[in-house]
Amino acid sequence: MSKKCVLVSGGAGFIGSHVTVELYNAGYDVVIADNMSNCDETCYNGVSQILGVRLPLVKMDFCDRAAVDKLFADYHIDAVIHFAAFKAVGESVSEPAKYYENNLGSFLNVIEASRAQGGCNIVFSSSATVYGETDKLPVTEESPRMPATSPYGNTKQICEDILRDSVKAYAGIKGIALRYFNPIGAHPSALIGELPRGVPNNLVPFITQTAIGKRECLSIFGNDYPTPDGTCQRDYIDIVDLAKAHVCAVARMLDGKMAEGYEIFNVGTGRPVSVLELVNAFEKVNKLKLNYKFAPRRAGDVTAIWADPKKANEVLGWKAERSIEETLAAAWAWEKRIAGK
Ligand code: WQD
Repeated sequence: MSKKCVLVSGGAGFIGSHVTVELYNAGYDVVIADNMSNCDETCYNGVSQILGVRLPLVKMDFCDRAAVDKLFADYHIDAVIHFAAFKAVGESVSEPAKYYENNLGSFLNVIEASRAQGGCNIVFSSSATVYGETDKLPVTEESPRMPATSPYGNTKQICEDILRDSVKAYAGIKGIALRYFNPIGAHPSALIGELPRGVPNNLVPFITQTAIGKRECLSIFGNDYPTPDGTCQRDYIDIVDLAKAHVCAVARMLDGKMAEGYEIFNVGTGRPVSVLELVNAFEKVNKLKLNYKFAPRRAGDVTAIWADPKKANEVLGWKAERSIEETLAAAWAWEKRIAGK
């Protein structure tokens, strides 16, 4: 039987590169497409080294409809995993139009190209951000989506709706939205990982850059939250575990196992970890001391959120496997490698 081909949009980035590795190892052909607007070829080269093969990398913008059509004409695409999007929450607040245009425009082009070829299986990279501040924890897929607190978050909600409605309206289109909690870590080979541009907004890259000496001090935003140690709680999901959830989603679609045309899954561990617990685990597993201080709360942060991953565990047959220690050791190994230490 010929291999099924999966298109990974945004496949040269952090999550896309890890997903590419897992898809290829699971026996899929993979076409990577990326406009390289938020990454260089580091992860693509890392993927090539891990797999021992240079997969096709098409440099193109998903907002360019003709380019997307050409991509679908050049390759026989059985499934698309759509990552290509802007992701800086703060920037989306100051430049909303940029976010709506790029994140919605690129996804609509994927839908249109899929329609034109008579259908496709589409996995959309969504986020736990769609749940907003909720006091009923953990969150299940049935938990209500709260009004988005940023244009970035709103694009995730709208793209979920676009997918749901397209599945209803257009024959042959099937969709799975994966709602990621907080993806962290790096591949155990330390050949691919997160490469934030400028000052990192996210916790783990800020920690690793502080530990390596690129940043002076980590600010822990808020220690007066109503949580056991006063710092916010999140569900940190290992990047390789997260990548494997995509393989399960693609297999479910291609094997015709979907119960409905559109399905949603939380991709998390189900385990809340506070900022302080994460910092302590990082110090312990990597045997170092991190320079940190407590700082005021960061605007827009929710107190606590973690997943109920039962649906993904039972229906998708996927489960987070790596411990927070393994994940934080991998993140540190990656930081050291890119720093050349
Ligand atoms: C985690 C915790 C901070 C930095 C965001 C997006 C979400 C998503 C993932 C993106 C919080 C604390 C952080 C620091 C800190 N998707 N923190 N000092 O905010 O949960 O989610 O990233 O594509 O949509 O909103 O993740 O890593 O920024 O923060 O104390 O320097 O770490 O307050 O409690 P967040 P994060």
